[in-house]
Amino acid sequence: MRTQVAIIGAGPSGLLLGQLLHKAGIDAVIIERQSPDYVLGRIRAGVLEQVSIDLLDEAGVGTRMHKEGLVHGGFELLFKGQRHRIDMNELTGGKNVMVYGQTEVTRDLMDARQAAGLPTIYEASQVSVQDFDGKHPVVRFEKNGVSHELQCDFIAGCDGFHGVCRASVPESAITNYEKIYPFGWLGVLADVPPVSHELIYANTERGFALCSMRSETRSRYYLQCPLSDKVEQWSDDAFWTELKNRLDPEAREKLITGPSIEKSIAPLRSFVAEPMRFGQLFLAGDAAHIVPPTGAKGLNLAASDVKYLASAFMEFYAEKSTAGIDSYSERCLRRVWKAERFSWWFTSLMHQFPQAGGFGQKVQEAELDYLIHSRAASQSLAENYVGLPL
Ligand code: APR
Ligand code: PHB
Repeated sequence: MRTQVAIIGAGPSGLLLGQLLHKAGIDAVIIERQSPDYVLGRIRAGVLEQVSIDLLDEAGVGTRMHKEGLVHGGFELLFKGQRHRIDMNELTGGKNVMVYGQTEVTRDLMDARQAAGLPTIYEASQVSVQDFDGKHPVVRFEKNGVSHELQCDFIAGCDGFHGVCRASVPESAITNYEKIYPFGWLGVLADVPPVSHELIYANTERGFALCSMRSETRSRYYLQCPLSDKVEQWSDDAFWTELKNRLDPEAREKLITGPSIEKSIAPLRSFVAEPMRFGQLFLAGDAAHIVPPTGAKGLNLAASDVKYLASAFMEFYAEKSTAGIDSYSERCLRRVWKAERFSWWFTSLMHQFPQAGGFGQKVQEAELDYLIHSRAASQSLAENYVGLPL
């Protein structure tokens, strides 16, 4: 088997790259370890920056997003028992975000790929990437017990944090930067109307809470929890009670509860691997970097990597230029580190840290007070939240 670009991983990064390459007339095969249902079963964040919206449009998969996605021009910060609106739209000169779940983005990309008859090999096992330091990289894998070999010009490592691509790079060629946070997020998805029409990020002495949504009838809520907590410990009742405890009186009153349709605990991590290119192997999305979910930058960063990578390959095939390929890692990392900084900062501002004590809480409240009263500070928050330019 031969293709131009072998894409490892059919998450949003791999699927979006596949779609953009297809539009440019570049052949790609996607190799995915899991089944389509498994991929669609993962619930992740749901806030798209304009850059990501534009890219999904460019890939030809924006129709349902524009129909069903919710355009948000602001969000609320809750601290010391009161909510304060950050008017992103006004603060950024008219920019918004789109609330549309990553699961839906993935589904739209999968449907488009299937409709175009493009090759995706699901449930591939023993995937390995080889010879990417030379001109003829190879991907080997097994499917239904049969071994296959895929020859290609380039390998795109879109296989997430636990993938095989980054792990195949010699240790001496890569530097990892990592920060682990001493808490997790307990998330609940429920078919109840959202408590507010915009997102609420809450800083409380009991820990962080987030009120988000997937639609006007489906809510997504999160609570900061100790890493030692197990999801089985959290009944729906316990979750709703604790969420109410972290909200302001009006929201507490308005909150509509119901049975959870998904409940999970996710650890929080900041991680960057440098560089993002090793010969003919390119890392994109979670394979190269992770942000804590506060601010929902993960998918947006994946989308901007993919944009840079797709245009690098287009330049290579259309103009025989390696300029885009050669600058890929540096271009991505400049944007990645800014989103890492923002996600770390927003996480640090909103969560309870075990050692921080009363002093830490007071300093957070002072910073939040400054944020809502200083135009410069709220503008900086809004500018980062809607997404920095490419
Ligand atoms: N071989 C083939 N596929 C693999 C392998 C492997 N060895 N290892 C992992 N994969 C697949 C996973 O099963 C998964 O479907 O790669 C895919 C990676 O998808 P994601 O983890 O969703 O990563 P990415 O596409 O970069 O999406 C980034 O996901 O975690 C969120 O916040 C993040 O929103 C961001 C987005
Ligand atoms: C979500 O809806 O899952 C979500 C929204 C905003 C965030 C994080 C997660 O900052």
